[in-house]
Amino acid sequence: MSQDTQGEAKAVKAREGTLDIAANPFKADFPLLVKHPELTFLDSAATAQRPEVVLQAERTFYETMNANPLRGLYKLSVEATQAIADTRKHIAEFIGASDPDEVIFTRNASESLNLIAHSLGGSILRKGDEVAITIMEHHSNLIPWQQICRHVGATLVYIRPDANGHISQEEIEAKIGPKTKIVSSTQLSNVLGVIPPIKAMSDRAHEVGAYMVVDGAQSVPHMRVNVEEQGIDLLAFSAHKLGGPMGIGVLWGKRDILESMPPFLTGGEMIDSVTEDDAVWAPIPAKFEAGTQDAAGIFATDAAISYIESLDRDALEKREHELTAYLAKRLMELPYVTVLGSQDPEDHLAAVSFNVGDVHPHDVSSILDMSDVAIRAGHHCAQPLLTWMGISSCCRASVAFYNDKADIDNLIDALENVWKVFNIGD
Ligand code: ALA
Repeated sequence: MSQDTQGEAKAVKAREGTLDIAANPFKADFPLLVKHPELTFLDSAATAQRPEVVLQAERTFYETMNANPLRGLYKLSVEATQAIADTRKHIAEFIGASDPDEVIFTRNASESLNLIAHSLGGSILRKGDEVAITIMEHHSNLIPWQQICRHVGATLVYIRPDANGHISQEEIEAKIGPKTKIVSSTQLSNVLGVIPPIKAMSDRAHEVGAYMVVDGAQSVPHMRVNVEEQGIDLLAFSAHKLGGPMGIGVLWGKRDILESMPPFLTGGEMIDSVTEDDAVWAPIPAKFEAGTQDAAGIFATDAAISYIESLDRDALEKREHELTAYLAKRLMELPYVTVLGSQDPEDHLAAVSFNVGDVHPHDVSSILDMSDVAIRAGHHCAQPLLTWMGISSCCRASVAFYNDKADIDNLIDALENVWKVFNIGD
């Protein structure tokens, strides 16, 4: 069966509602999961596994169209340039944007957020201004703002959720006010797996004349992101959490905002003209894309998005919600496990963080690894959030649609082993 036919068959099956979380027609598409049937991979929030079509696409690029894009006037280079343009258009459609030129390729979501903080923040922030972010931010959406605020004398204000990870309207109105120039929030917490109210924050940001920046690194792989409907001005995410290659990041921004921003990196292909003393910037997107792009990676990102689209996205989202709720519920049933954030299993998407008694999360992860269960342990690049919750580290299990119920049952069985090894509670 061709990849297209396989995708169609799965989509039909999903629409018929037969994709319960015990069944798993997806693993076969992921060579690493096929090669390692013993593996229980529950760390997709760190990076997703890649489907065969993505691996094949990287190879196809180098075998059939490898040339430096944008620079050559010969057929091969034109083809490489076209591959980038096609992916740009595809990504714009994928996130509900209408203008492909608003899609900028970077190396990762961190670079996209650094670009926004330094270019937009650096040009509009003044002493006394405020930047509002949530306490749930990944360091990638926190340190760049700390740096730029310190540099210009602006204040970084934290929007804090309640114990369940929910951000109230009162908190939004209290923290986003007349001094706020930029609001930046994750759309899905990489630790708590909660979805902050992006639309309410963007409405408030726009009411006070601020920009709304969204870190979509965790959300874009698991939910439909529509920049126009959700009131987003700038969005950052990466391909590797979507099943695409590592090293490809995306920054989307509204045309007028991107046009008003100075470049972040300078060099080849981002200029219109250069003299001994000055340079005139190229129009977007080139203004923000200095140097040779990872064209093969961008081409493979296109394949990753096509793969997701070949499945039924509503069914995938439903499956990931159900898998996460099952994961949270099973963890909550263990008397020695403390689940962080909401105690409602339905409140988590993709990621659930927890601790096992007083056992250090690194020990938990290492012992789980002895049963081939892969989770992440540590501060999850969100130290201010953990400090605010009164802990220094935790375990995190995260799911993608290629997981199934058995993966979660394996984790639960292996956690019982961790508890036995530490012989606590006897
Ligand atoms: N940002 C990734 C995570 O949360 C690496 O694990």
